[in-house]
Parts: sequence; structure tokens; C-alpha cells
Amino acid sequence: MLRNLRAAMRFRRFEWNPELRRLSHAACAEDLRDIAKKRLPQGVFDYIDGAAEDEVSLTRNQAAFEQFKFRPRVLRDVSHVKTQTTLLGQPLAFPLVLAPTGFTRIAHSQGELAAARAAEKAGLPYTLSTLGTRSIEEVAAVSQGRKWFQVYVWRDRGLVKEMLERAAGHQYEAIMITLDTPVLGRRERDIRNGFTLPPQLGLDTLLSGLTHPGWTWDFLRAEPIHFANVGGSSEGGDKDPVVLADYINSQFDPALSWRDVEWFQKHWKGPIILKGIQSVEDARLAAQSGVEAIALSNHGGRQLDQGPAIVDLVSPVADAVGDDVEIICDGGVRRGSDILKAVALGARACMMGRPYLYALGAGGQRGVEFLLEHLHDGVKQTMALVGADNILELDEDLVDS
Ligand code: FNR
Ligand code: LAC
Repeated sequence: MLRNLRAAMRFRRFEWNPELRRLSHAACAEDLRDIAKKRLPQGVFDYIDGAAEDEVSLTRNQAAFEQFKFRPRVLRDVSHVKTQTTLLGQPLAFPLVLAPTGFTRIAHSQGELAAARAAEKAGLPYTLSTLGTRSIEEVAAVSQGRKWFQVYVWRDRGLVKEMLERAAGHQYEAIMITLDTPVLGRRERDIRNGFTLPPQLGLDTLLSGLTHPGWTWDFLRAEPIHFANVGGSSEGGDKDPVVLADYINSQFDPALSWRDVEWFQKHWKGPIILKGIQSVEDARLAAQSGVEAIALSNHGGRQLDQGPAIVDLVSPVADAVGDDVEIICDGGVRRGSDILKAVALGARACMMGRPYLYALGAGGQRGVEFLLEHLHDGVKQTMALVGADNILELDEDLVDS
């Protein structure tokens, strides 16, 4: 009996590294979210996970992918599926870009550096936010990979111009101008939590810190978090905790208009991507303005609530301007199959934000590496299962709505 029992029981080898141990229990992006939820203090998790008002756009972004059904084909020799494509004329391993996220170091002290390194390893572009907690220079120092710089348009254009010069001087290939944030969306989880950036260690957070010792230890040991690109240059943007809505509403320029795109074309010689387009009409105006790419996005539902689900815009926008600009889309991408659907509908690539922040929270750089491999595998596996061997040949025949 003992022999039978021994034969039937197989224990997994104990993993001594705590990050790898946590990751060994994850099978998908949603699992990384569950791990991050346990590890991060509630205010931090809610800032990342939350969205505006009733969070309808957030839920809609993800749910909309499910409305598109694959039309799989068989007997199509899928022994060598090709996932490589190009974006802005340069290669990428599969059609995914890491979206810009502010304050990335609240998820993990390695923050932007970890995400940029993991992106380089995976052969994908990384986008650094104006509100990054590592600077243009610090990220360039750790990554030879493709880097884009996301621009929030400050009222102080001198500061914007200076950031463009720094990005150009450090081989950032493109800028992405975010257009959906003339004011900050109403994030009610953050209001309830009294959330500030950087997080303040008051009584609540101290208590939350005791119940989340891994995150707290990492946070307290690391250099203090600050706005690495704009800190010091603008009032309130240094190391003092700020309520994000107050900060953004005082610094971002709500007067931005189509005329400003010309200003950027004058001051930036590389490709320009306009992020936050949510209608066919604006996609047309963007194409007419002569920019190289647009990112269909509702900021992951964090700005306007109750807008369209992003994946629903891809096909009509591709019909209208697909020959004139490259189309990127983000919001709700959680699996390789989501990426395939977006590409089949006419996107050149997708971006994702929250999943890599959950991954950082769950396991730092290794977490992001795990996620990017998982998504790449998901793309390959789904291609094999739908009978597609080259991502460049996907079209709308692959999906039914
Ligand atoms: C963001 N996003 C964002 N966008 C941007 O242009 N500049 C920024 O600084 C930020 N910051 C930011 C912080 C956090 C915590 C999140 C979750 C998101 C939006 C981001 O680039 C992207 O549009 C969405 O995250 C896409 O939706 P998913 O992938 O999170 O569903
Ligand atoms: C956000 C800002 C930083 O979505 O864009 O929180």
C-alpha cells in the first residue's frame, strides 16, 4: 500500500524564490490580478484596478471581446505560425505594446525599469509615461529596446519641449500624445480611499501595510517615489503627496485642440501617435493631420465612463482610415486571443496597461516576463487553433460579431 501511495503522490519541488513561487501558481493575467490584490495595500490596488464612476467602460472593454466569435478553420498546416509584425516600420515579436502608466513604482519598486527590461526581452516597445516614476534617462540607461514617450500636455509648453528634447536625445523612437485627459476622470475608489501619490503612510495605510508586509517592505526600502520627469519643474510635483485630480487639473492644458498637433510636428521629428481617439470622426481628423498612428483608447475606462468599448471601434475606424494611419487599440486586452481578434478587425497592434501592473505587483520583472511570454504563447496557440499561420494575413473573415 505504501508503495502505491508513494507512486500516486508527486509533490512539486519547493520553490525557494518567493516571486517564482507566487508566479508558479499563475496561469493567466487574471491570476496575476488575484495575486496582486492580495499583495498590494487596498488603496494601491484600487488605483491600478479601478476606473471612472460606475466603471462601465472598464467592464465593457473586456466584455466586448467576447462578442466576437472566431470562425476557426482546419487542415491548414499550422506547424510554423508567424507572429512577427511591424509597427511604425520597425519589427515587433507579436502585436503588443506596453501602454504608458503613471507611478509604475507603486506596483513594485523596480517599476518602469522592470517593465522596460521585460519588454525589450520580449521584443516589444515600451511606453514611458510623462507621469513616470523613473525618468526618460533612467529608462534609456537600462533598455536598448524600442522606447516610446507618452506626452501629457502641460500648460507650461517650455517643460513639454524640454521633455521632447530629452526623449529625442535618448533614442526614444516615437511620442504618444494622450488626448483623453483634459481633466481627470472621477475615480471613486480613490476618493473613498483618500488616495494620494505617492501613497501616504497614515494610520490606515500603516495598518494596511502590516497586512501587506511584502509590498510595504519593498516600498519602504526603495528610494522614495516621485514624478521623475516633471518633478521639481512644476509646483506640487515634487516629493509631497498629491491628490491626483488636483495635480492634473492644475497642470494639464484643457485648451488643447487640433492646432496643437502642428506644434508637436514642429518640435518632434519622429513618428507621432495620438492616443485616446474614440470615434470615426476623430480618427479621420487624426489621419488628415498627418500623424503616423492613432491609439483607440478610453484610458482603460479611467476617464470618460459610458463610452464605447474600444474593440468595437476597430473595424469601423479601419474601414475609414486604415490605409492612412496605423491603428493601435487598448482596453481590456487580457489574452492572446484578444490580440488576434483586434488584429483581424484591422488593428496593427494592441496595448495593455493593467495586466503588466498586476504582473509587477505579483512578481516584479519576472512577473512581467511571465505575462509577456504567456500572451505570446496565447497568440501562437490561438493561431494554431483557428488555422492561421501568419499574423500578417489575418482579416475580418476570422471573426463574427
Ligand atoms: C493608465 N493609463 C495611462 N495612459 C496614459 O496615456 N498616461 C498615463 O500616465 C497613464 N497612466 C495609467 C495608470 C494606470 C494605473 C492605468 C491602469 C492606466 C492608461 C493606459 O495607458 C491604457 O490606456 C489602459 O491601461 C488600457 O486599458 P487596460 O489594458 O488597463 O485594460
Ligand atoms: C491615470 C493617469 C496617470 O490613468 O493617466 O491614473
